[in-house]
Amino acid sequence: MITDFLIVGSGIAGLSLALKLSEFGKVLIITKKQKAESNTNYAQGGIASVLGKDDNFELHIEDTLDCGAGLCDRDAVEKIVKEGPTRINELIEYGVRFSKDKDHLRLGREGGHSRNRIAHAKDLTGKEIERALLFDISRNKNIKILEYFFAIDLLTESNIRKDIAEKLPNGKKSSKKCYGIYALDAKKEKIIKIVSQKTILATGGLGQVYLHTTNPAIATGDGFAMAYRAGCELSNMEFVQFHPTSLYEKEVEDDTQVFLISEAVRGAGAVLKLKNGKEFMHKYDKRKSLAPRDIVARAIDNELKKSGEQFVYLDLSAIGAKRIKERFPNIYEQCKKRGLDITKEMIPVVPAAHYACGGVKTDLSGKTNLENLFACGEVTMTGVHGANRLASNSLLEAVVFSDAIYKYMKSNIGDIKKYEFLTRTELKSLAENIYEWDDSGTKNTEEWILISHNKKEIKEIMSDYVGIVRNTYRLQRALTRIKMIKKEIKEFYNRTKVSVELLELRNLVQIAHIIIKSALNRKESRGLHYMLDYPDRDDFNFKTDTILEKKNKLHD
Ligand code: FAD
Ligand code: SIN
Repeated sequence: MITDFLIVGSGIAGLSLALKLSEFGKVLIITKKQKAESNTNYAQGGIASVLGKDDNFELHIEDTLDCGAGLCDRDAVEKIVKEGPTRINELIEYGVRFSKDKDHLRLGREGGHSRNRIAHAKDLTGKEIERALLFDISRNKNIKILEYFFAIDLLTESNIRKDIAEKLPNGKKSSKKCYGIYALDAKKEKIIKIVSQKTILATGGLGQVYLHTTNPAIATGDGFAMAYRAGCELSNMEFVQFHPTSLYEKEVEDDTQVFLISEAVRGAGAVLKLKNGKEFMHKYDKRKSLAPRDIVARAIDNELKKSGEQFVYLDLSAIGAKRIKERFPNIYEQCKKRGLDITKEMIPVVPAAHYACGGVKTDLSGKTNLENLFACGEVTMTGVHGANRLASNSLLEAVVFSDAIYKYMKSNIGDIKKYEFLTRTELKSLAENIYEWDDSGTKNTEEWILISHNKKEIKEIMSDYVGIVRNTYRLQRALTRIKMIKKEIKEFYNRTKVSVELLELRNLVQIAHIIIKSALNRKESRGLHYMLDYPDRDDFNFKTDTILEKKNKLHD
């Protein structure tokens, strides 16, 4: 299969980019499940931007930098903030119906924001965005979507016959290039090569490497792992964001996505409380329940360790029943389905893995260090989020940076088509000279239990030792175990015919390894990476935690 532009992933990043790149040629989107299934589809709170009269760019920039704990790239932050209003208008032109008060967008508030600036579609913002973008795509003749196509690995020089590789444009330059991907057609159980002039990774997040996550089952970190194997630079992988408020449920099955209680609920006035009904966030931050996520999640974690309880409560009584049903209809319904009337009762909540702040490093045009390979959305590290993402900046980053790729193509399209694009005949010939997927020596396995056991083990290790609060001893322990499991998986992979489950397992162990190593390399506490060995706070409220951890260490 050949195409001009290959986009891997059908979330907000991939879809919004596809609509734009279709101006320059044929766009093929491949996606591992049904096309709407993505992190985007579950986004609740909304998309942050300077849209209110009392707001300005400097305030949004400052909030983002403050949240990012000194690691944001100011240029990247300024870019998303300043382009925000234009991109939101563009989404409205694509047909996204944001909630409004008469003719003004209704703006919500979330943790770490000093102003109301979150455009939303009630509490189903992501679903509405997917609906609108997919509708536009269905009417665009230059875009094709293949569902249930799983990207396995990027095609680079090592997959092409050497004499052919050297004859390609810029073929003798030393930098690595990407020529497309190997993909598993999951329905036909067949592996194919997709050769493209330009490839874009828009594969989303990695929450499934933890036991409890707000992310759907697709979020197994495939893009990060694929890019890493192909030689891409990854950065800031230690900064995994835990959302403070996922719904606590007693029995959660493995791989189940836990249900999120949007931060917008706290933005509307809900307050975190202990089981005894007392508030606690004032002890940790003057912004109380609306402090940035790293602080709130760590405070909850600390209170749970002190009390031995399983959850804290979110009290919505200040919002009022009418407003709860009108502003948060999905949260209301989902809780009701589980027997909880949130207009009358408090919601039991716990932190859950939510977002990858690190990822494939790109420049401000979305270019990676592999020629012909671009990336946008959650899989990237653009410099926007630093050590902790500000709420609702993710959807914004995704649309701004997919637009950056489009702008780069638009301003260089003459030269790109002249010097970088291959002719159709050359592209076909390149495809013929790429090695077929080699599965000699492999066979179908009956041992599915090994896959599910390994997966569970990885998730347990990550949750137990690489969670909200870390220390070197625990990280080392996690590393030793993950290395052993990785070796086992490699051996199993080498003798087994690939399947979606096996490919996901291979990626999960790969990213677990990368997260742990990145965490060990950062010898300080910063943002989401809180190390007990390097406590950098005077805040005595976290000391109990330190003492508890030291005790545990003695007993380990
Ligand atoms: P995704 O939307 O995750 O899309 C990734 C796509 O890649 C999917 O189609 C997937 O199937 C595909 N894919 C992955 N691997 C492969 C593979 N190997 N082969 C083929 N296809 C593949 N952010 C905000 O800014 N505001 C919010 O209100 C908000 N709420 C959230 C609520 C929840 C419950 C969650 C989980 C996240 C939320 N976020 C929010 C974060 C935000 O939704 C995501 O970061 C963002 O949607 C990511 O978009 P994306 O296009 O990069 O990736
Ligand atoms: C939420 O609605 O709380 C999620 C917002 C986000 O992840 O930015």
